[in-house]
Order: sequence, then C-alpha cells, then structure tokens
Amino acid sequence: MRLIESPAMRLEPLVAAHAEEMFETLSSPAIYDYMPGAPPPSVAALRKRYERLEMRRSGDGTQLWLNWIVRILSGRCVGFVQATIHPGTTADFAFAFAPEYWGRGIAFEACRMALGELAGQFGVGKFFATVDPRNRRSTRLLERLGFSNVPPENYPNGDVVPDDRLFALIDTTASRPEGL
Ligand SMILES: CC(C)(COP(=O)(O)OP(=O)(O)OC[C@H]1O[C@@H](n2cnc3c(N)ncnc32)[C@H](O)[C@@H]1OP(=O)(O)O)[C@@H](O)C(=O)NCCC(=O)NCCS
Repeated sequence: MRLIESPAMRLEPLVAAHAEEMFETLSSPAIYDYMPGAPPPSVAALRKRYERLEMRRSGDGTQLWLNWIVRILSGRCVGFVQATIHPGTTADFAFAFAPEYWGRGIAFEACRMALGELAGQFGVGKFFATVDPRNRRSTRLLERLGFSNVPPENYPNGDVVPDDRLFALIDTTASRPEGL
C-alpha cells in the first residue's frame, strides 16, 4: 500500500499516528447520520482502533483492510477512504469526510484516486458500497463515480443490511492482483 498524490491532495496509508489529527475530523455527529458508528470517544480509543487497522488484514487473514487518510493542501486531514478486499477480486468501498469539507468535490477526487489505485495495484475488478437510502450525498457521489444501484442479491460477500441500497462498480482496467 502506498501514498497516492494529486495536485490537490494526498492519500496517506493510515497509521496509528493519524489518530490525533483525525479525532477532530471524525468528531461531528452529522457524519454518522446515515452511517454506522459514532464520534470516537477519545484520541486514545481512536489510536487503538487505528493500530488494528494499520495491520491491514482481518484476524483470519482472508481480507485486506486498506485505509487512506485524505490530507488536503492546507495540511488538514479531512476524511478517509477505505476498502475491504475479499478473496478474489471484489472489494467493499466506503468513505467519510468532515462536514465542513462537503460540497467541494474533495470526496469525489479522493475516491477516484483510491478506486484507480485499488484496480491498478490490487486487481480489484468489482466494487460494492451499501448506502442508507436517505444518504443523498453518498448516493450522488457513488453515481458520479460510476456506481449503479443493483439488487442486494448481487452482493457476493454476505448479507446487505435490510433496506440499505447496494451499489456496484465494475472496473475493467483492474490488473496485477496482489496480496491475496
Ligand atoms: C458522502 C460524502 C463523502 C459526500 O461528500 P460530498 O462533499 O457531498 O461529495 P463530493 O466530493 O462528490 O462533492 C460533491 C459536491 O461538491 C460540488 N463540487 C464542487 N467542486 C466540485 C468538483 N471539482 N468536482 C465534483 N464536485 C464538486 C458538487 O457540485 C457537489 O455539490 P452539491 O453537494 O451541492 O451537489 C459526505 O457527505 C460524508 O462524508 N458523509 C458522512 C459519511 C457517509 O455518509 N459516508 C458514506 C457511507 S455509505
């Protein structure tokens, strides 16, 4: 997993040391209106979670857990993009940004960069994302990225939360499978 850069931002592979900077970024309750979770209770709790994520693998070793912290030119860490890569070439894709940075295309640019990296470097050919139907921002973002709404039965890696919408993106440029 490597750093990904554009003129506007850097996607840094998540490490435990990001916890301090990300604590405030993740502290707004609005982030969790339509997404599971809650603001981290403390920097220490977030650091513990990040220490686990920094291992980049599930406990049984079958999934790759890839997280990038998004840092914009001002130096501020504004959100994260994450992928869980399942055995084979499918991945779950997710993202969250601090509300003060919504509506600027930052999430779109960060997701576009991560999707390219996941297809090019990790061989992911099919991405899935599940979304609360009320989450209009996330739905719009996924559609702009090329995802389409598909039936929940299409999800190959378990059950979709009832009432969530399932989105899928097939990447025909995927190559060079690595790591699994
Ligand atoms: C989902 C989420 C990442 C979307 O963020 P976002 O900022 O709306 O997404 P984008 O980066 O695509 O920005 C789109 C907006 O920026 C505007 N924009 C400005 N410049 C832009 C550019 N260069 N490129 C694209 N969009 C641009 C668009 O017009 C759009 O504006 P609108 O919201 O008024 O329609 C954000 O709402 C979030 O973090 N939510 C909480 C966590 C969450 O729900 N995660 C998803 C779980 S499935």
